[in-house]
Amino acid sequence: MPGIAEGVPCTRLLLEDKVALGSGASFWTTRAFPAAGIPSLTLTDGPHGLRAQGESGDHLGLADGTAATCFPTASALASSWDVGLVAEVGRAIGLEAVDQGVHVVLGPGVNMKRNPLCGRNFEYFSEDPLLSGKLAAAWIRGVQSTGTGTSLKHFALNNQELKRMSTDVRVDERALHEYYLPAFEIAVEEGDPTTVMCAYNRVEGVYCSDNRRLLTGILRERWGFRGAVVTDWGAMNDRPAAYLAGTDLEMPGNGGVTDAEVRRAVTAGLLDERVVDESVERLLALVARTTGRDVEVPADLHDRHHELARRAAVESAMLLKNDGGALPLQPGGRVALLGALAGEPRYQGTGSSRVNPTRVVSLRDGVGEYAAVDCAPGYRLVDEPDAALLDEAVRLAEQAEAVVVCVGLTEISESEGFDREHMRIPANQVALLESIAHLAERVVLVVVGGSAVEMPWQDCASAVLHVQLAGQAGGAAAADLLFGAANPSGKLAETYPLVYDDVVSSGYFGVDPHQTPYLESMYCGYRYFDSADKPVRHPFGHGLSYTTFAYSDLRVVRRGDDVEVTFTVTNTGGCDGAEVAQLYVAPRTGGAYRPVQELKAFTKLALTAGESRGATLTLDRRAFAIHDPEVGDRVVEAGTYEIRVGASSRDIRLRAEVQVEGTQPRRSRVADWYYTLTGTPTPEDFLTVHAPYPVLDAPRKGTFDLDSSILEMKDSSLACRVVHFAVERTVAKRFGGKVDYDDVRFKMLMYSAADLPMRAMVRMSDGVMTPRLARFLVDSANGHTLRGLWALLRRRA
Ligand code: BGC
Repeated sequence: MPGIAEGVPCTRLLLEDKVALGSGASFWTTRAFPAAGIPSLTLTDGPHGLRAQGESGDHLGLADGTAATCFPTASALASSWDVGLVAEVGRAIGLEAVDQGVHVVLGPGVNMKRNPLCGRNFEYFSEDPLLSGKLAAAWIRGVQSTGTGTSLKHFALNNQELKRMSTDVRVDERALHEYYLPAFEIAVEEGDPTTVMCAYNRVEGVYCSDNRRLLTGILRERWGFRGAVVTDWGAMNDRPAAYLAGTDLEMPGNGGVTDAEVRRAVTAGLLDERVVDESVERLLALVARTTGRDVEVPADLHDRHHELARRAAVESAMLLKNDGGALPLQPGGRVALLGALAGEPRYQGTGSSRVNPTRVVSLRDGVGEYAAVDCAPGYRLVDEPDAALLDEAVRLAEQAEAVVVCVGLTEISESEGFDREHMRIPANQVALLESIAHLAERVVLVVVGGSAVEMPWQDCASAVLHVQLAGQAGGAAAADLLFGAANPSGKLAETYPLVYDDVVSSGYFGVDPHQTPYLESMYCGYRYFDSADKPVRHPFGHGLSYTTFAYSDLRVVRRGDDVEVTFTVTNTGGCDGAEVAQLYVAPRTGGAYRPVQELKAFTKLALTAGESRGATLTLDRRAFAIHDPEVGDRVVEAGTYEIRVGASSRDIRLRAEVQVEGTQPRRSRVADWYYTLTGTPTPEDFLTVHAPYPVLDAPRKGTFDLDSSILEMKDSSLACRVVHFAVERTVAKRFGGKVDYDDVRFKMLMYSAADLPMRAMVRMSDGVMTPRLARFLVDSANGHTLRGLWALLRRRA
C-alpha cells in the first residue's frame, strides 16, 4: 500500500507549515497536516526492544513504556556474530512497533567502543566496525521488513557519555574513515535506514546537527543515503545552519521556538527556501516509507518474541573458560546458586533504551527448571560488605557438589548519561569469589554486564559463562547452556584487557572532556592490543564450545578485483555446535602505519558432531584499503597481504599470502608512536596525524557561554548554584525527594539535566529556562552578575 504522504508536493505547503514539519509536535511525534494528507509519525526508542511511552515522555527511560519484549542488548547480540538472528530480532521489534503504532524505532547504535568505560557501550555492538556495520544493517533490514523505520545513531563520534552534549571531538582523517565511520557506512549501504540520528557532540569544532561535511558530504553524497536526518533528542544547535548542513527533523518539539528562527533566516535571505523544500521532500518520503503498513501481527506476538529473546540470549552467551569440562552440569541434581544477581537479574542497561519487559526470567528461575536449587545472595547489590551474607554463601558452597555463582556489573556501574569510573566488578562480589576460591574445581561463574570488566578473579572458578545483558529471557538461556540443553557459540565482540591501564586511552579518556582528541588514531580494541602485542585476558573473537572445531583446506584465489577465500571447518567433538570463523587481513606492504590485522569477513557455521563444511568468504578491494588523506579517498597499497582464518584474533588456524596490486606503499611521515605503539601517544604525536587546531581550555569564569552547563558554572556564581540546587530538587522529586547519587536513575538524570548546554536547556525545559535567564546565568558565571541582571531586566522591560 502506498504511503499516505506519497505524492504530496511540498509546494502545497506554506513556508510556515514546511518549517513546522521539521520540528517535533511533542516528545515523540512529528506534526500532522491533515489537509495536506500528512499524518503525524511516532518515533520511539530501541534498540533492544520498544519503549513506547505515549504522549508524556522522557528520553532517559525514567517512566516505563508500554510492555514490550526486551531482547539482549546490542553488545550481547553482537557476540552471536549471527546476521540472520539479528535480522530476526529486528523484525520482531518492527512487528511490535506496528502493533503499538510506532513508525520509527530509534536504533541501532553503531558508535565504536573506543574505550571500555563509555557508559553506553552496552548499547553498541562492537569495537570492530565491520562486525558492527554488518549487524546493524541486518537489524535495520529486519525492522524495515515490517514497514517500520529505523534511526541509525549517533552520527558521529559519540564515544563517551561525559560531556556528550558538547565535547569537541578531534580525530585524524585515517581514524575517521577507517575506524569510526565504516560501521555507519556499511549500515547505510546494506541496510538503507529511513533515518540517521545526528549526535549531540561537536566534531572538529562543529556540532553534528550543523555539520555539513558529515551530513551532506559524507552521508548523502559519498554514501548515497536517501533518508532523513533527525537530531538526537535536544541535539539541535542552530536550526538554520542545520538545514544547510542537511538536518531535517528536530526532536523533540519545542513549541515552535526554532520555527521562528528558521522563518526569520528565510526572510532575511540567509537560508534559501529551496533548502527547506528539499528537507520537506525527505520528510514526506519518510512519512511515505513508514505509514500505510500492511503486515500481519500475530496474536501471540509476545509469547513468540519471548522464545526468540531466549534463543538470541543463548546465541549471544560466551563460554570464556571451561577447565576440565566443568560445564555442562548434569541436570536433575542439586546446585548451590550464589549471588544476588541470580535472583534480581540485570538484563538490560539504564537510559533511553530501557524496555518495560513483558516478563522476566531470572537465573534462579532458569536453573530451577533443571535442578534443585539452594540459593544464597552472598553479597548486596550495593557495594558494601556484608559478612553475614558472605558466610552464609560460603557455608552453602562448601556443602554443595556444584556451585554456580552469578557476578557482574550492577545497575549503578553502567548507564547512559555518565561513564564508568573503573573496569572492576563491585568489591563485595570479588570478596565472595575469593572466599570460595578453594572450591574452584566445583565452581562455575555466570557473568552479567554490558561492557568489558577486569577478570582477575576468574581463577576462582573452573568455568566462566558470560551472558552479558541478556534480555528478559536471559535466565532461561543461561540455564539452557549451563545444563547442556544448548551449546555456547558466542564470541567476544570486544577485547577483555587484563587491567584498564592496558587500554591505550586509559590515561586521557575523560580527563579534559570538553575537547576530546583521539590521540590513539585507529588503534582501539584488538587493533591496539594485537599491534602492540600486549597480553589480554580474553582476545577479540574468543569463545569456547562444548565441542571442538578444526580448520583446514585454506585456498585463496584472485577473482578479478576480488579475493576469494575458502576453507573447511570440522566439528571434531562429541556434540552439535556452531563456530564463528573469522577472517583477518594482515598487511605486509611496509607502507602506511596501520593495525597488524583487521577483521574483514566472518561466518557462523552450525555443525553437527563430526560434520565438515566448506565456507567461502569474498574480499573486495575495500578489505585491503586505507584512507589516504591526500587523495581524500580509499587507496590500496600494492604488495603482500596475509589472509588469516581463525577462531579469535589470537587463535589463527590458517594462513596464506596474496599479492594485491595498488599504489606504491609509502611510509607515513608521522610520529614513531603510530608505528611502534610504545608507551602512550602524546598531543604532539597527534599533531603529526591531525592538522593543528585551537585547543580549548576548560571553560571557566570569564569564558563561559551558552554552550556551558549549570554543572560547569555552579561554582562560579551564586545564581548558578541556586539553579543547580533547583535542578537537583526537581529531579529528586521523582525519587521521593531524595538526592541520591547512588541511584543510577537519579545520577543519570542529574548528569543529563545539569550538564545540558544552556542553549539546549532553553529548548528542553518547557519554557522554564528562557533565553534571557540563560544569558543572565552565563553573565553571572562570568562574574558580571549585576550587568547580567540589568540586561535581564532591560530585556524584560
Ligand atoms: C539518546 C538517544 C535516544 C533519545 C530519545 C537521547 O538522549 O542519546 O539514543 O534515542 O534520547 O530517547
